[in-house]
Amino acid sequence: METATPATSSVVAASSSPAAASPDGRDGTGQPTGAVQPTLRISDLHTVFRSRGLTVAAVRGVDLDLHPGEITVLLGESGSGKSVTAKSVMRLYGANASFSGAVELEGRDLLSLPPKEMLAVRGAEIAMVPQDPTAALDPLRRIGAQLVEVLRQHKVVPNKAAAQARALELLDQVGIPDPKRVYRSFPHELSGGMRQRAVIAIAVSCDPKVLIADEPTTALDVTVQAQILDLFQRLIAELHSAVLLVTHDVGVAEEVGDRVGVMYAGRIVEFGPAAEVLNTPRHPYTRALLDSIPTPGVERGRLRSIVGQPPVSGEIPAGCAFGLRCPHAFARCRSVDATLISVGERRQAACHLLEEEVSA
Ligand SMILES: Nc1ncnc2c1ncn2[C@@H]1O[C@H](COP(=O)(O)OP(=O)(O)OP(=O)(O)O)[C@@H](O)[C@H]1O
Ligand SMILES: [Mg+2]
Repeated sequence: METATPATSSVVAASSSPAAASPDGRDGTGQPTGAVQPTLRISDLHTVFRSRGLTVAAVRGVDLDLHPGEITVLLGESGSGKSVTAKSVMRLYGANASFSGAVELEGRDLLSLPPKEMLAVRGAEIAMVPQDPTAALDPLRRIGAQLVEVLRQHKVVPNKAAAQARALELLDQVGIPDPKRVYRSFPHELSGGMRQRAVIAIAVSCDPKVLIADEPTTALDVTVQAQILDLFQRLIAELHSAVLLVTHDVGVAEEVGDRVGVMYAGRIVEFGPAAEVLNTPRHPYTRALLDSIPTPGVERGRLRSIVGQPPVSGEIPAGCAFGLRCPHAFARCRSVDATLISVGERRQAACHLLEEEVSA
């Protein structure tokens, strides 16, 4: 997919000094640098889980802006905090989770919204497409009834007849070849791909301002994955929703991402236009992640070039969380955490090595 157009993208000016930057066109003071206001602005988001005396810092200061019509990808290994970031936006956790920072939807902070108001936001203004379409659907109710319920619940249509007509339209819009049959079907009567299309129809039924998709194609086979990604891109272009797409798959990020944030141990360590980050990665972790993609005929393992495992969220080491695995780490990396700095136009990375380069 094309990289972001200037009209909607956040622009961080290339800097000759290692000024603090965040992946959203804000300067070190958190002020916007003149970019168009985002639909959703995540600022210094922290999500901590506490259970049975254990504290897990799953998200540790994420800044991210989502713009209309743009797909922003969160890419990273298992456990890096992608899903927790996505679900924190929708406040999908119980009492064992605490949040700090801000998640502003067109200026309204969702983290401080009363639960009842948050309920109204969920599904209508922000919708989610989960990994497993089967779990997202009620197995005992027909697809049409589930769509009609969402349309009526959020008062998108004036009456039941209008809801039924709109439901059929939506099924058609998501590329279901026989909308009338699918309308009458139970989830188990559909293939995985058709089920995911139905879930996407429900997600877009209220014309959400923000669409969050957590590994939306991981449960599907490869050809179906490609079709669903195509559908996704087409719908986003039509609906102009701002999209956060979570994936561990570099191929998916490359295929649909306008911008990509690479997550490691609860932080975004590199951010920028997808094509640039994936073709010319700057952070040693991004390079290791891309190096680990298997290519035909070449034997490669998971993060083959890097020893060790990502830290467990409860045990983040001092300094840079990647420091213990990084082949370039030096003393400062083991004592001081690295923050995102500008490393080129619209690009940021959090690495002491790059700080030295930028200020040289
Ligand atoms: N409800 C929860 N309670 C406690 N810890 C949690 C909870 N959900 C996630 N975590 C922890 O938070 C960290 C980040 O998890 P998260 O699910 O965001 O990873 P992820 O990047 O989405 O990985 P994957 O690719 O496997 O889905 C992990 O260490 C995980 O164990
Ligand atoms: Mg996940």
